[in-house]
Amino acid sequence: MNPHTFWLTRLPRVETALQRLISAKAHPPLIHKAMRYSLLAGGKRLRPILCLAAARAAGGSESLALPSACAVECIHTYSLIHDDLPCMDDDNFRRGRPTNHRVFGEAVAVLAGDGLLTEAFASVARTKPNRRYSPADLVTELAHASGSFGLIAGQVLDLDSEKKRIPLKKLVEIHRAKTGALITSSLRLGAMSVGANPKLLSHLTRFGRALGLAFQVIDDILDITSTKAKLGKSIGKDRSSGKATYPRLLGLKGARQEADRLTAAARAALRPLGSSAASLHEIADTLLRRDH
Ligand code: IPE
Ligand code: IPE
Ligand code: MG
Ligand code: MG
Ligand code: MG
Repeated sequence: MNPHTFWLTRLPRVETALQRLISAKAHPPLIHKAMRYSLLAGGKRLRPILCLAAARAAGGSESLALPSACAVECIHTYSLIHDDLPCMDDDNFRRGRPTNHRVFGEAVAVLAGDGLLTEAFASVARTKPNRRYSPADLVTELAHASGSFGLIAGQVLDLDSEKKRIPLKKLVEIHRAKTGALITSSLRLGAMSVGANPKLLSHLTRFGRALGLAFQVIDDILDITSTKAKLGKSIGKDRSSGKATYPRLLGLKGARQEADRLTAAARAALRPLGSSAASLHEIADTLLRRDH
């Protein structure tokens, strides 16, 4: 992937904010070491970047969205640590290094995920109130997206669909929840942090729903077509564990067409925003062409 200017220029800010969020000196050392091990292992930082881009599209200061940007990356990283556990996808490589439980053991990995999940809410609660939204509104937004009506719902359905033949409608539901909900919420939180109006929020929501689904379709494709070195995670696992995926239901070509279609739908949702959404357009484009 060749990240465009917005993404590249904002990455250092995001990295610095994440470094500060969980200090290297935090006590007790073991759990914070485990949390930092996964949080600071790189990763594309898509969700925080979307959060900042949404604040910008809403005409606000990106700094106001930084607490939410950190929060969504913490939730995402926790979900990856737990997703890789032997009782879930059982993966031993992530973000170019051995998975958290491989290094720290399962018990500490579970707790490192719990720790990041909890800190996420402390971070989003530090958002400055504005004339439309209070920190409590943002906490509720994040809770719904990451909880048992969002990301967790998707993870449960994903596991429950292993080795089953499910209809496309059900797969859409899984992908929307396990990946789409947090991606959509990243955009909404960024916009809410700067007091965006409800109309703008609904355009961003439509963009996020299509983009989030496209993102998981491409993740399914890359599990087949990419390499471990490029992705920084194991490949071919979806097939061996009998996961319900887009290529499995539609074939590789059909899945690619669907990713194209969804990306176009995402970009169409930005039309009412005009040039203020330039960075969001670029992100959508970059994601469609990504190879990791
Ligand atoms: C991987 O997410 C898991 C999915 C939800 C598809 P990313 O591809 O954003 O992973 P990182 O953050 O770059 O490691
Ligand atoms: C993961 O989906 C979604 C979440 C972690 C919420 P996958 O299981 O497809 O992600 P990868 O391929 O392991 O990154
Ligand atoms: Mg999974
Ligand atoms: Mg997985
Ligand atoms: Mg995957």
